[in-house]
Amino acid sequence: MSHFETQDVLSVHHWTDTLFSFRTTRSPALRFINGQFTMIGLEVEGRPLVRAYSIVSPNYDEELEFFSIKVQNGPLTSRLQHLKVGDRILVGKKPTGTLIHDNLLPGRTLYLLGTGTGLAPFLSIIRDPDTYARFDKVVLAHGCRTVAELAYSDYLTKELPNDPFLGEEVRERLIYYPTVTREPFRNQGRLTDLMTSGKFFTDIGLPPLDKEHDRVMLCGSPAMIADIRGLLDGQGFAEGSMSEPGHYVIEKAFVEK
Ligand code: A2P
Repeated sequence: MSHFETQDVLSVHHWTDTLFSFRTTRSPALRFINGQFTMIGLEVEGRPLVRAYSIVSPNYDEELEFFSIKVQNGPLTSRLQHLKVGDRILVGKKPTGTLIHDNLLPGRTLYLLGTGTGLAPFLSIIRDPDTYARFDKVVLAHGCRTVAELAYSDYLTKELPNDPFLGEEVRERLIYYPTVTREPFRNQGRLTDLMTSGKFFTDIGLPPLDKEHDRVMLCGSPAMIADIRGLLDGQGFAEGSMSEPGHYVIEKAFVEK
């Protein structure tokens, strides 16, 4: 039995020369927890060429959405970036991943810290009503090199707060914090530096991290994950897993695609 189903591309949106998103049809049989990833890709020379992609769309959406980089000589994304409406794509039948609520201990504030395409799983999580049932406040921080790379920022600031179902929770409890490292912007600098200096917490109006109340999900480059993990471990935070929930969980957003 195949591990994949073939789905149709419904729309493609190019954010920059290096970033794009696309939507596909979804099998009604596909089940996933918000925050999980699945393998997706193309059939090349009769074989599946697939990589792990976090699912951007929430699990109640009838379609699937993915957010990808474009690597010019990347085996998959050099092809995937040319996707067009009506093209067919392979979608793995068994989503998995660690960025799920059950891997975290109960808490008051949920920090979702992502760089680059590491934003993807958090777009699903912030549209999960369970997220607002579990936490008083949800902080979504997205670090990018340039302002143009702050994908989904219009959606997060203009559309989602007016969503008929989630708008009220989002307006009262979701804090979106975009930051840029290589050009001027209202928030500037790496998330790690902003957290260490305390500026991040001053800007969002919340106290510095405290393992009693704060829970963290990390998704991004291996370097960013290593650095923030170091910060968290230094404050006594424990990593959670399927076998034992903890104060934080991590997922790498793979860059070599
Ligand atoms: P910087 O521009 O200082 O490298 P990339 O495009 O390489 O995936 O990076 C996405 C964002 O993540 C960039 O703003 C980058 O900042 C930032 N970044 C890279 N490494 C780290 C790290 N170790 N800790 C925090 N942010 C990082």
